[in-house]
Amino acid sequence: MIKHIAFFCLLSLFFSCNSSEEKTKKETEVTIVDGAERYDVYRGSEMANLMRGMHAFNVQLKQEVIDGNVTSEFPEEFLKIHSAEFSESKSRNKTFDHYSGQFIEAQKLVFTNDSNESLAQRYNNAINLCITCHQTECTGPIPKIKKLLIKP
Ligand code: HEC
Repeated sequence: MIKHIAFFCLLSLFFSCNSSEEKTKKETEVTIVDGAERYDVYRGSEMANLMRGMHAFNVQLKQEVIDGNVTSEFPEEFLKIHSAEFSESKSRNKTFDHYSGQFIEAQKLVFTNDSNESLAQRYNNAINLCITCHQTECTGPIPKIKKLLIKP
């Protein structure tokens, strides 16, 4: 049990923007369901949850791009990036709005054929915009996001 809590704290440290222990403790919760341990109740902001969904989606998309067979479609829920609420310590600002617009455009381009750039390039352009925005105010997840890039 203790081992699991420790592991989970580490996990959320790894995920969230600023790795202060205080924040990690607040957002971590352990529940016991039918005697089985469940320690995945991590309460993040609407934006943090959206970001985790965006990460998960791009893990899958990366494989599809590598296989040269994209069957996913652009997830409309990504447009929530323009309205989702942030964690207490963060708020919407011009820089965020600028990069979120660019990111959405780049992610959409992965799903179009009329482009001079290769599929892998278009995919990487979108991921690089995740990274560019994160460099401005949320550096914690950058190593994790970099793993999404397709190496030439
Ligand atoms: C326009 C800026 C911007 C873009 C683009 C962006 N992010 Fe984020 N990301 C943020 C901000 C700001 C937060 C913190 C949100 C909060 O704490 O409310 C965040 C949080 C995260 C988190 C941490 C979530 C958590 O558990 O706390 C992950 C992981 C993440 N982003 C991955 C990604 C990935 C992957 C992409 C691209 C597919 C991406 N982000 C695109 C700004 C951005």
